[in-house]
Amino acid sequence: MSDTSAPLPIVRSVGTLREQVRSWRREGQRLALVPTMGALHEGHLSLVRQAKAVADRVVASVFVNPTQFAPTEDLDRYPRQEARDAELLAGAGCDLLFAPPPTEVYPTGFSTSVTVSGVTDDLEGAARPQMFGGVALVVAKLFNMVQPHVAIFGEKDYQQLLVIRRMTQDLDFPIEILAGATVREADGLAMSSRNAYLSPTERAVAARLNLILREAGERVRGGQAVAEAEAEARDALIAAGFQKVDYVAFRDGETLAPTAGTPLETTKPDAARELHKNVRVLAAAWLGSTRLIDNLPV
Ligand code: PAF
Repeated sequence: MSDTSAPLPIVRSVGTLREQVRSWRREGQRLALVPTMGALHEGHLSLVRQAKAVADRVVASVFVNPTQFAPTEDLDRYPRQEARDAELLAGAGCDLLFAPPPTEVYPTGFSTSVTVSGVTDDLEGAARPQMFGGVALVVAKLFNMVQPHVAIFGEKDYQQLLVIRRMTQDLDFPIEILAGATVREADGLAMSSRNAYLSPTERAVAARLNLILREAGERVRGGQAVAEAEAEARDALIAAGFQKVDYVAFRDGETLAPTAGTPLETTKPDAARELHKNVRVLAAAWLGSTRLIDNLPV
């Protein structure tokens, strides 16, 4: 059991982290990693609790990773609140916070990249071409630094989860990747550190994203053609007050292959259901200068 009254140890160097991790491993302890960019909310804390249920020790990382932000994105204004994050992590059962400065992760001369193809080709990969290279790079580095037995990522960033699964398999990391369910506010809005950017008016509109995706999923389950449901959901988002929709897409939940043009209900509903047993609907849309993403199983 963690002592939740004790302050959480915060480690900033890879050397110190490795010493601690080595000693836990020598004792035969099972280690879990929960990578984050901080500004923690209940979604992150649920991942820590899930990690604690499957491991003896939980390491959380808080690192606002510059390589996954394009120069036009919100790296500078991304919320940073380490003291609060450390308290929340301790309360959720975390054993160590790894919070390195950027120079510890990317020292002068750093020049390696990690590219995951295929699953990164569209959706978030098309809208934010910088992102998945940066995510794969930092997660690969965190895997090497922490050497966990298991690592947990939220389903809220569904495509990211698939990218990390692909990379873990392709690079032979001996790490089990677990998915954590999306945690939502009472009105259905998926929790996200970026929700803090929303004005009260935008916050009221934001919850419609989840609702509109839910309704689109129901229509497709009821037999509506996927392309039609995608177009209707895009129109509904604009009518609700979103300024721009990057995508609404029904995709295979394992490969992200498009399911458009293949209605889920056909003259052979059993066959169609088997074909689409793991379909998800994913979306990204803008409210002012804030970009929200969400996804649901259909
Ligand atoms: O999902 C996030 O918060 C980040 O993309 C991650 C996985 C911590 C990598 O920086």
